[in-house]
Amino acid sequence: MSGRAPGTVVSKVQRLRELLHRYNYAYHALDAPEVSDAQYDALLEELRALEGQHPELITPDSPTQRVGATPLAMFGEVRHRLPMLSLDNAFSEEAVRSFDRRVRERLATAGCEEPVRYSAEPKLDGLAVSATYENGLFTRGATRGDGETGEDITQNLRTIASLPLKLRGKDLPTVLEVRGEVFMPKARFERFNAEATARGEKTFVNPRNAAAGSLRQLDARITAKRPLDIFIYGTGYVEDGSLPDTQGETLASLRAWGFKICPESRIVTGIDECLRYFADIGARRAQLAYQIDGVVYKVDDQEQRRLLGFVARAPRWAIAHKYPAEEETTVVRDIEFQVGRTGALTPVARLEPVFVGGVTVSNATLHNMDEVHRKDVRVGDSVIVRRAGDVIPEVARVLLERRPAGTRPLALPACCPVCGSPVVKDEEAAVARCTGGRSCPAQRVEEIKHFAARRALDIRGLGDKLIEQLCATGVVRSPADLWHLDAAALAELERMGEKSAQKLVKAIHAARATTLPRLLYGLGIRDVGEATALALAQHFGTLQALQAADEDGVQQVPDVGPVVAANVVAWFRDTENRRLLHRLLEAGLHWPPIQRSGNPGPLAGKTFVLTGTLSGMTREAAQAALQRAGARVSGSVSSKTSYVVAGAEAGSKLKKAQSLSIPVLDEPAFLDLLKSSSRS
Ligand code: IVH
Repeated sequence: MSGRAPGTVVSKVQRLRELLHRYNYAYHALDAPEVSDAQYDALLEELRALEGQHPELITPDSPTQRVGATPLAMFGEVRHRLPMLSLDNAFSEEAVRSFDRRVRERLATAGCEEPVRYSAEPKLDGLAVSATYENGLFTRGATRGDGETGEDITQNLRTIASLPLKLRGKDLPTVLEVRGEVFMPKARFERFNAEATARGEKTFVNPRNAAAGSLRQLDARITAKRPLDIFIYGTGYVEDGSLPDTQGETLASLRAWGFKICPESRIVTGIDECLRYFADIGARRAQLAYQIDGVVYKVDDQEQRRLLGFVARAPRWAIAHKYPAEEETTVVRDIEFQVGRTGALTPVARLEPVFVGGVTVSNATLHNMDEVHRKDVRVGDSVIVRRAGDVIPEVARVLLERRPAGTRPLALPACCPVCGSPVVKDEEAAVARCTGGRSCPAQRVEEIKHFAARRALDIRGLGDKLIEQLCATGVVRSPADLWHLDAAALAELERMGEKSAQKLVKAIHAARATTLPRLLYGLGIRDVGEATALALAQHFGTLQALQAADEDGVQQVPDVGPVVAANVVAWFRDTENRRLLHRLLEAGLHWPPIQRSGNPGPLAGKTFVLTGTLSGMTREAAQAALQRAGARVSGSVSSKTSYVVAGAEAGSKLKKAQSLSIPVLDEPAFLDLLKSSSRS
């Protein structure tokens, strides 16, 4: 159905567009959505349906008109009415300070006051674009190109949901050109790459390439499928209208007109505040949703900008203060396996050294074999190495197109590279392990490092390198051996004088005074981290009580499940471990008594077994209630069981209780008991 649309339809279409423009603005410019995505989509569908019935009502600014249908044969050219400039870079505090000095000196001759106010903004790592609006309607999009002439990407820019097709407000210039950066948010980039890999399609090297590659599509329908976003950071050509006198106010106007502005932009005063801003953003860089490669400081005042002017292709009133790159390309020379404290084999890539994230990196973890296979990293590959924030360097991806001939997929070794014991890997577990235990020198070294570490026994001055030396010479094979070291033997070691040897012996001696949680953590029991070590110590109070506990007993500890309980009990049953503990105590390790957690509770000393189904609560809730009252909850019935709680369809445990004459509580009796014990 076509022809003239009735007035009701016309006004309905208008109302829908206004609503959609408003919701778009709230969502993108204000970051304060007014409706859910589903509600938005429903309105958009309604509008699409009406426009389908009345195509004569379609206008270019309609929210339905983001995706054109016909691919271009080639991009047209756009001559920028004002050149799109670039920025000078500064890589050091010194360079930034001298920029500020130059600015102040030039402005001083014009009688300007100091210090200078700057607009400090993240330097987004995407693609610079220009977007022109005539009478509030988006009419032209362009790339930067060589700064004078760019490519016409109007159709592509239209597809970016956060770029308004129609501006808001009344005080709009007749022609308004804005400039900003198109980018692909990090999370969307990762997801996009993962999906592309799953489909066997080409992936992008980094978010910037992804943004650039997506924008420069002759078929805008492809661009529309790419998760792009845009921040506007300034203006270009303006006709019939005026802009505010400062960058800060300009950004505020741009936001009010409907543009998305980077929320991290700030007005700062003086160079020290600029540097603080740089440090603050730098500390949060890894957590930002988008990639940045620095921050930009721009003189805030337009009049001052005019006074400062330009040199060549960059303004004198702005500078980009760069962070070290977080990603670099390098080559994998070799892949080795490191054996950890628990025998876990970690593949590590040995790299051509490369400067990334502010340090020179020559090793990068590959985490585990599943990860190696997922990324398909091979010796000889060119790879992107990533070091963001304090995170250890890792191989982000392989540049498959640069893979040399004759590479082979990495295979898990059958034997431990250090001790030769067999390596095992469960089908479902990602981790492969050496089965050598303490007979593996690598595991021994790591055990001692963990034991001596700051959060464990905290032996000052006993660093990793020294422990490696001590183990290599065979003087130390177990943590307990540390207390048999003498200063004379230590002084023989490389780079160790008599003085430092004496100091170390003293530190080892002093470390005997420790705490039970530190010792339990330091023993390196599988799955016992600091929190679990503390919980175990608080629950049992003494090492002896913990040693004597069975799995049920250990499971009474808050947050300890059956797997951890089994590990703990197995550790203390092992003869070698018992010998280690014995030797440690013999060496004089001691700790103050520890406050046991909670008061004993009215059901302390009683052991319960739950069986069958309770109608009023889950088994977990029943268990928790009993534990709160101080009771133990066990999985099996024995002569030590105080009560069996039998719900519906109780089976063998109930029979066993009856045969042992153990009191059985049905659900009402159990609830009565809980009630009375919570009162007492
Ligand atoms: S202002 C004359 N502000 O950096 C000022 N640029 O080398 C020109 N960029 O091509 C740009 N974030 O793509 C400005 N907040 C920001 C920016 C920014 C990223 C890019 C832009 C430009 C390049 C300058």
